[in-house]
Amino acid sequence: MESIFTAQWIKFPLDLDEGAAAFLLDFTLEKPVQKATLQATALGIYTAEINARQVGGEVLAPGWTNYRKRLQYQTYDVTDLLAQGKNNISIEVGRGWRMHAREKDWLQPDLPGKSTALIATLSVDFADGTSTTFRTGGDWLCKESKTRGSNIYNGEIYDAGFEDRFLRPAQVIDYPHEILMPLQGERIVETERLPVQKIFTTPEGELVLDFGQVLTGYVAFRIKSKKGSTAILRHAETLDTAGNFYTANLRTAKQEIVFIGDGEAHSFKPRFSFQGFRYIQPKNWPCEVKAEDFEAIVVHSEMKRTGYFESSSPLLNRLFENIVWGQRGNFLDVPTDCPQRDERLGWTGDAQVFVRTASYIYDCERFFDKWLADLASEQYANGAVPHVIPRMHWDGEASCGWADAAVICPWQIYLTYGSKELLARQFSSMCAWVDYMRARTVGDLWEGGDHFGDWVHLDGNGNPTTKYFLQNAYFAYSASIVIKAGKVLGLDVSGYEDQLARTKTAFAKEFIQDGKVLCNTQSACAIALYFDLVPAAQKQSVAAQLENLIKTKGHMTTGFLGTPYLLHALSQSGRAQMAYDLLLREEYPSWLYSVKAGATTIWEHWDGMKPDGTMWDVSMNSFNHYAYGCVADWMFGVAAGIELDEENPAFAVVRFKPQTTARLDYVKASIDTRHGLVQSAWARKDGVTLYTFTVPDGVSATAEFGGRTVLLNAGEHSFSIQDDE
Ligand code: BGC
Repeated sequence: MESIFTAQWIKFPLDLDEGAAAFLLDFTLEKPVQKATLQATALGIYTAEINARQVGGEVLAPGWTNYRKRLQYQTYDVTDLLAQGKNNISIEVGRGWRMHAREKDWLQPDLPGKSTALIATLSVDFADGTSTTFRTGGDWLCKESKTRGSNIYNGEIYDAGFEDRFLRPAQVIDYPHEILMPLQGERIVETERLPVQKIFTTPEGELVLDFGQVLTGYVAFRIKSKKGSTAILRHAETLDTAGNFYTANLRTAKQEIVFIGDGEAHSFKPRFSFQGFRYIQPKNWPCEVKAEDFEAIVVHSEMKRTGYFESSSPLLNRLFENIVWGQRGNFLDVPTDCPQRDERLGWTGDAQVFVRTASYIYDCERFFDKWLADLASEQYANGAVPHVIPRMHWDGEASCGWADAAVICPWQIYLTYGSKELLARQFSSMCAWVDYMRARTVGDLWEGGDHFGDWVHLDGNGNPTTKYFLQNAYFAYSASIVIKAGKVLGLDVSGYEDQLARTKTAFAKEFIQDGKVLCNTQSACAIALYFDLVPAAQKQSVAAQLENLIKTKGHMTTGFLGTPYLLHALSQSGRAQMAYDLLLREEYPSWLYSVKAGATTIWEHWDGMKPDGTMWDVSMNSFNHYAYGCVADWMFGVAAGIELDEENPAFAVVRFKPQTTARLDYVKASIDTRHGLVQSAWARKDGVTLYTFTVPDGVSATAEFGGRTVLLNAGEHSFSIQDDE
């Protein structure tokens, strides 16, 4: 098989703006085919057909990487699509991630020109042992596609009646081959189809269809319309308080599909864009709107589901489902903040707070392997990490809690899946980020930087959890991880150990006084405790400070940076019941508040939709933002008690330590680990708690429950403990 590196880059000779181009080759195969392979990629998004049949099962190829340095190509077995005799191949290329909605602001940096481009080889082995290869080059023809507009944020314009009869030779361009690389991440695929749950008319008189679930993907629909008539399908995540179709939170992203008819009946689905939605609104629909003519298709990176959680609380179960949907909605080749407004970017902070949860729910090792390679490729020479990966040209650098994704994510992927290769590959990137901070210390504390702080916290105006506190907490935390990772890799990390010891001393002196964290916030206390920055003698008093802060407020006030650690800090200091109270709280603000308000995914804000029915400001209000879904790692790790053992990653040794509560009758969770299925469950009935632990073959485990510790071998083990024992 000849590789894609022998082909030439081709483009449509004119600037098509947002329209897609189709690249075509007719060819004859004189002999029976034994094996045929297509390798292809594009600057843009491409779809390929051979003899009018779709190539491959993936969508939105080639995915999104740092295109300046890394462009994935796909390899397809297309043997079954070819036949002896006349054949044709058609590859359409739309704009994709290469260019963004608000082009001036969002264009990926350093990419020349507006054009899309294609490169491909089709290698054919004949039954008689000979072979031939067709490569993109000047002999390919091209025409304008029926897709007259394609834009990740705005959607698509498809003109069924448009036919470009003017075939032109494709233009060969000089574009680098060095950026080409085989698919490193997961394929992006359609994973589920959802039917319409309800059709209704809003108070404003608009017809709206409800799929019952906020999701990321697109809608397949059947339509019949007159030639030239324009139908529009609009997408929204939510209705407003009055029950009307609500798109204000999309900002400039239109996420509309425009279908222009040709007089015939069509089955249509978008191919060059995706939408974040639960509701759709057909406008100017030329035929009767029938539920069975619309289907939502869920699209995300192909990952194996590994983690399950269930309890006696239907609301908590729905919260868990919402977290799963949050991951499904935002793991689309890149871990994005949200899938709907004109953002949809690989925000590092969001990925960092969610990575542990994500790695339990789905096997996302490959997904992060690819994204972390992008991260390393985007890191600045001074070690700073852009806020979003792939980087945008407006991007800043070096926000604590965001840039630390460079350290926290590879370490977590190592802990969950055990691969030292990924850790070894990322290690220089991890060190580079810690070195960046270290180079900017004054008196062993990091100064400067461009920080988001405890993003969207509820501590009132300003940043009571100061950025100076946060940046140094994260500096110490990332340094501690680099030390652990270096030791796993057998490297000398003594320099980092010295630095960490000095920074911890300086941190305690600067931020903790008389057993209290000076930033008097829940986030500050939780972070100081969880990151092990509180001197041993003062831990209990800081934990008491945290408890008092929660009692005084009556609820959590933490933002993006404090929330992942809040419940852990409580349960680690013997306050698991308070952690449960926060987890199971139903009033605003809380996780279950959103569930009771009808959420089917995780909101960006605790008060995305306020108790009085009004919305958080339109400028930033996503209803599918997984960050606060990070709480599932506490549900697995503490409620069900499936703990990772850092010395024995990938659950090679399992530690069960469930924390029960009188507020639930049962909890059960399972993770399909690299060593097999690990399960933990407890159920309370009539003063007895029944614990059940499943240990995979070849794995040993310890279980701590009801005041005792037992060693377990492979198999299922049950223990009944009287509550008063
Ligand atoms: C994103 C966040 C992100 C943040 C940076 C927002 O616009 O949606 O999730 O982390 O910017 O603070």
